[in-house]
Amino acid sequence: MKNELILVLDFGGQYNQLIVRRIRDLGVYSELHPYSTSLDSIKKMNPKAIIFTGGPNSVFEEQSLTISKEILNLGIPVLGICYGAQLIAFLENGIVKTSKTREYGGRNITYMKSLIFDSIPSSGVCWMSHTDYVDQIPAGYQILASTDSCKVAAFGNIEKNIYGLQFHPEVFHTENGNKIFENFLYKIAHAQGDWKMQNFIDDSVEKIKAKVGSGSVLCGMSGGVDSAVAATLVHKAVGDRLTCVLVDHGLMRKNECSEIMSVFKDGLGMNLILVDASKEFLTDLKGVSDPDKKRKIIGAQFIKAFEKVSDKIGAVDYLVQGTIYPDVVESGFGNSAAIKLHHNVGGLPDVMEFKELIEPLRDLFKDEVRQVGAELGLPNSILMRQPFPGPGLAIRIIGDITDEKLSILREADAILREEIKIANLEEAIWQYFAVLTNVRSIGVMGDMRTYDYMLALRAVTSFDAMSADWARIPWPVLEKISNRIINECRNINRVVYDITSKPPATIEWE
Ligand code: XMP
Repeated sequence: MKNELILVLDFGGQYNQLIVRRIRDLGVYSELHPYSTSLDSIKKMNPKAIIFTGGPNSVFEEQSLTISKEILNLGIPVLGICYGAQLIAFLENGIVKTSKTREYGGRNITYMKSLIFDSIPSSGVCWMSHTDYVDQIPAGYQILASTDSCKVAAFGNIEKNIYGLQFHPEVFHTENGNKIFENFLYKIAHAQGDWKMQNFIDDSVEKIKAKVGSGSVLCGMSGGVDSAVAATLVHKAVGDRLTCVLVDHGLMRKNECSEIMSVFKDGLGMNLILVDASKEFLTDLKGVSDPDKKRKIIGAQFIKAFEKVSDKIGAVDYLVQGTIYPDVVESGFGNSAAIKLHHNVGGLPDVMEFKELIEPLRDLFKDEVRQVGAELGLPNSILMRQPFPGPGLAIRIIGDITDEKLSILREADAILREEIKIANLEEAIWQYFAVLTNVRSIGVMGDMRTYDYMLALRAVTSFDAMSADWARIPWPVLEKISNRIINECRNINRVVYDITSKPPATIEWE
């Protein structure tokens, strides 16, 4: 079955994935594609509606991201947001101007009577973030909302089903933002709302079956939610033609491998093999401090380890990976800048001895992955596991990796995890871990001068890892963690707590 699609065209705005999320939450499948997607491909996708996102440009600059005007004549409903709205006005021969000042933040807005603002109060608060504005709307359009400082806060061509919003309905601070999307989806684009997790599962299982045929499948398990759900989904499709492999890259946390084996092999009865490749990984990583280089080496070693296993277990046709949507987008898809090279996307070597990758979760956000897992019957203890990055502790040791640093970090991290558990904070925090910095500083212990490592604690709350806030761990808990680490871990004489949100920082330090 093919889902209805809402195509979101990416003009480089920072809230683009949030738009996709909002739409999916309203029961319609949505995907983000580059603004440069050809008209032909767009027609082939046959979207129910198209959304132009915001973006940092001015529509009238020569280098600005733009799109063929034809897109507005396909008979497909279009919603432009911020830059997207200005683009509609510009393409339709309206006038867009640059203001002397930037308008940013909550504004009182008055809505006129129209389908897109149906069933919402005639005034409320909307969230603005722009410098350019629509000065004159194009012929055939009418103004549908205004604020004190922005005459054209919304406009539309009712006949053509084309709407532009200068404000951001996707942002939490816009009152009734969801209702505006709902009106657009159901009253203007006449979507049916067929995006449900059970449909996704049935659909994926069918696709995987059709793709794999009688072939064999290998899945790399990390013990994290993504690979567990991916493996379970593929298992549902191909049964025992799936072999799961846990590669011990020597960068796991304390006791991690044995815990994973006991949950998945003993508990869930999966065909799971443990491969110890720690020597190979650590040899290749020796002396490497650049984070992207580390990821590339790890990506290449993962594939080598899998190839070795497939030699042992016979020919393998497909490789399953638990790549999820934020990995795809953050690795430089579309117009967002490449932030990090995640090993499971950008870091794969070009030559791979497998027919193809199977990435069944590539279109899903983290909490959607958890929903799929729950529908598949996975226990909470697996679904609520905090995310652990594929490159493991390699990206939590700043600078080069040595056995000594690994064992220092493992001990400190285990103390942090233990204390978070004791304080009953496991579920409240999205991710919590220790980072071994390459800073050494002077301390004093038992009247002796020390010159040892500084360890950083990182704990964040998040919804989907796209943005995150530092967790407000109670001070007595932090105090206990710090005391225990200093007393119990060799070579650490200073503990600091990272109080940076994402953005501007990322969750991992590398
Ligand atoms: P950042 O550090 O980019 O992390 O804010 C977002 C989420 O992704 C995880 N992460 C990774 N996962 N391979 C992975 O499989 C990677 O290279 C990688 N880097 C970061 C990170 O732990 C967080 O949950």
